[in-house]
Amino acid sequence: MEQKKEMMSINWYPGHMTKAKRMMQENISLIDLIIELVDARIPLSSRNPDINELGKNKSRIVLLNKSDLADPAVNKRWIQYFTEQGAHVLEINAKNGNGIKAIHGLVQEACKEKIERDRKRGIVNRPVRAMVVGIPNVGKSTFINSFAGKACTKTGNKPGVTKGKQWIKLNKSLELLDTPGILWPKFEDRQVGINLAFIGSINDDIIVMEELACDLINTLQERYEGIIGERYGITAKGKAPEILEQIAESRKCYLKGEQLDLAKAANILMDDFRAGRLGRISLEQP
Ligand code: G4P
Repeated sequence: MEQKKEMMSINWYPGHMTKAKRMMQENISLIDLIIELVDARIPLSSRNPDINELGKNKSRIVLLNKSDLADPAVNKRWIQYFTEQGAHVLEINAKNGNGIKAIHGLVQEACKEKIERDRKRGIVNRPVRAMVVGIPNVGKSTFINSFAGKACTKTGNKPGVTKGKQWIKLNKSLELLDTPGILWPKFEDRQVGINLAFIGSINDDIIVMEELACDLINTLQERYEGIIGERYGITAKGKAPEILEQIAESRKCYLKGEQLDLAKAANILMDDFRAGRLGRISLEQP
């Protein structure tokens, strides 16, 4: 596992990280509001704690994206958790647009103080400027497309704005930076790396799939008992490697002769999980 952790970290090149961080710092000075996307299945593992330092003094909205793949009851608990931390929170599905409309009201609420401050200074109709941030693959591009839609107009190179920045005007009270801020996951905790691998945010080429599948089996057996047995029509009794063998048998994954193709079975299980075919599953709980 130690080896796996090390392999996971090499997925992110230090050069990329430094560049992304610099871009974030530069952009953050231009905005009022940070819209932070996290993966509803692993809201803590899929966020970078640096955002708190980077985004201090900015209003914050936390969006639990891919909520369609996560356990609805656990989503509700995460909403409560982040709300208690002082964030404005919503569960959304960037892919089909669920929950997106409600964001406009939330923006007004999150930026109430800024709007009030502006009003007192006699500044009216200055739109809130927001930036979308999140780790790779969390759904930032899908979200921007879905939130901004086709109707919006792009406005670039405004005075006071760094040259080349594009702002998407959503309405008279909100503008969105068209390039999202990329945050990098932190691998200090072994479980964080594994959670990110579960949801497919780590390059599969550097992962030992059978090991990962066994980790997933253990997690599911603990929290969502019965789900594997039901999906593959197996007893799902025994230790994780035995259950993986049962999946291989049930899905007829064979190498030459009678030998089971466990790598193939592992891929089937991971694909099924990532696509939500095992049901709505949350891997982290508040
Ligand atoms: P990024 O910019 O943050 O890197 O992420 P991006 O929008 O590219 O989304 C990554 C993947 O997550 C995409 O899938 C996208 O469709 C999917 N996705 C985004 N939001 C949601 C959501 O709320 N629910 C679900 N179920 N999926 C979501 P893909 O397989 O890479 O592409 P595609 O085949 O879906 O087009």
